[in-house]
Amino acid sequence: MPKSLLRKSLEGFHPYIPGEQPPDGEGWVKLNTNESPLPPSPRVIEAIKAAANDTLRLYPSPTAAPAREAIARRFGLDPRQVTVGNGGDELIELCFRAFADAGDRVAFPTPTYPLLEPLCRIHEAVPSPHPTELPSELPPSLSPDPAPLKFIVNPNSPTGALFDLPAVEAAVAASSGIVAVDEAYVDFAPRSALPLLDRHENVLLLRTFSKSYGLAGLRIGFALGSPDVISALDSVKDSYNVDRLAIVAAVAAIEDEEHHRKLVAEVVKHREALAASLAQLGFEVLPSSTNFVFARPPMPATEVVASLRERKILVRHYDREPIAGWIRITVGTQDQHDKLLVALKEIL
Ligand SMILES: Cc1ncc(COP(=O)(O)O)c(C=O)c1O
Repeated sequence: MPKSLLRKSLEGFHPYIPGEQPPDGEGWVKLNTNESPLPPSPRVIEAIKAAANDTLRLYPSPTAAPAREAIARRFGLDPRQVTVGNGGDELIELCFRAFADAGDRVAFPTPTYPLLEPLCRIHEAVPSPHPTELPSELPPSLSPDPAPLKFIVNPNSPTGALFDLPAVEAAVAASSGIVAVDEAYVDFAPRSALPLLDRHENVLLLRTFSKSYGLAGLRIGFALGSPDVISALDSVKDSYNVDRLAIVAAVAAIEDEEHHRKLVAEVVKHREALAASLAQLGFEVLPSSTNFVFARPPMPATEVVASLRERKILVRHYDREPIAGWIRITVGTQDQHDKLLVALKEIL
């Protein structure tokens, strides 16, 4: 196809080059996309097996009703305050569809999730980045920005830092548009913006089953907000955006709170051990409220990342300032950490 025909792409976001076979974990230590090191609840596997039957010829519930109801029960909300999507990424895309017209500003603190800028391009919205001076302090310029749509990734990626709840609430209160708080990693953090739902109509919380529920392979996430905001998202979604297996899995996952808690506790424990080991090797390490560690090696990050890759260890490198010397390492299993640390000792 002639290049001139291409109008839009998410260039700069996808972690793999289109056409390249991504390493799928087999033989690799995959610490680059913040998947869970632990499996999902056994009840999820049972629910998927039970649903893998003749009914797959039928479309799923267009509202994914059983999932919405189970999620609403878990958070003490009305089901009209919940919608679900094909991963948190789809919910971010739905925010653009519903709340950002061509030419509108979309504001967010930077550095942050690298999907936001490319989505601005696709929707012809104008990115309005607000650089953070200190990783855990919301930039004061975010609140007065008149953008009809703002994103606050909290805890943030790739820094792992948690913005203060009062600062997030102040930004929501000062904004007349929608403020989407992307809480993809919030289960690994000490607090969430959930209480804001009772006090502000314009706040939307985005969550995912990909991280703390160990279900990245299924593609399911959810959004919590006021019934009006949720119905605005529903009005722009595809008819059947979440499949039958994902719906039953989401119900089983959200109802197995004990497994969820165990998974989170294990990741948090390993996160602190990994951060301490990296610091011992001379890395500068930021405190993390997530399932990854953001750290600056004592030699050029590009060389560290390339040498790790030669040893079949994948971590995430951001090559743009102000975080060009930093790498993001997903919290893995003990065995994966042992391999990573042995490799780093050879490289440094
Ligand atoms: C900040 C942030 N938001 C949203 C997502 C989307 O996750 P998913 O589409 O797997 O639910 C991710 C995934 O890495 C993320 O880092």
